[in-house]
Amino acid sequence: MEFTDLDVENAYRLLAPRPTIIVTTVNLKGQVNAAPFSFTMPVSMVPPLIAFASVLSHHTYKNIEETQQFVINIPGENILEKLWITGEKFPPGVNELEKADLTPLSSDLVKPPSIAECIAHLECEVKWIKKAGDHQIIVGEVLKVHADKNALKDGLLNAEHVKPLLHVGGVNFIVGDHLKKVE
Ligand SMILES: Cc1cc2nc3c(=O)[nH]c(=O)nc-3n(C[C@H](O)[C@H](O)[C@H](O)COP(=O)(O)O)c2cc1C
Repeated sequence: MEFTDLDVENAYRLLAPRPTIIVTTVNLKGQVNAAPFSFTMPVSMVPPLIAFASVLSHHTYKNIEETQQFVINIPGENILEKLWITGEKFPPGVNELEKADLTPLSSDLVKPPSIAECIAHLECEVKWIKKAGDHQIIVGEVLKVHADKNALKDGLLNAEHVKPLLHVGGVNFIVGDHLKKVE
């Protein structure tokens, strides 16, 4: 191998492709928000904690600060275009689920809805939030999980069936064994 130096600001580009989630939240008025995130990872099994990082200005972050709740929705390949729409900049209070023609489902233990078209829903309550550079790390405790019956096989994600959306960066995703660009 022949190595070259990269700008350190691009180091995260090498930690890819990353699983992409759609986070649903509500504000104090109960207005629904949805947006995709790929800076995400599990951080504890017991208790079950999952982290993701959001820019301070995102409505997702503001809603979580206000209500301390969110749902992590795990999309499959069939909703890539809809996921992309939820990532567009809309004014506060706009429901991206309506914009993307995604179906809200009532969650069991938290106010934000889950997304019917996603293969799994993780209902979360904030454990802690900490600033990390230009993002805020949000760690949530998973209170409840629903998953499509075929999402797991022998206790593991049935990736061949689910075809998770893996974000490489920008419009580029790995789906199955190929690169897909959102148009
Ligand atoms: C695939 C994908 C992954 C993204 N990952 C992140 C992320 O990890 N952190 C972040 O702050 N923004 C991320 N974004 C950008 C936000 O989703 C986008 O700015 C969105 O409009 C924020 O919506 P909100 O203001 O309604 O929360 C991502 C966008 C896409 C399309």
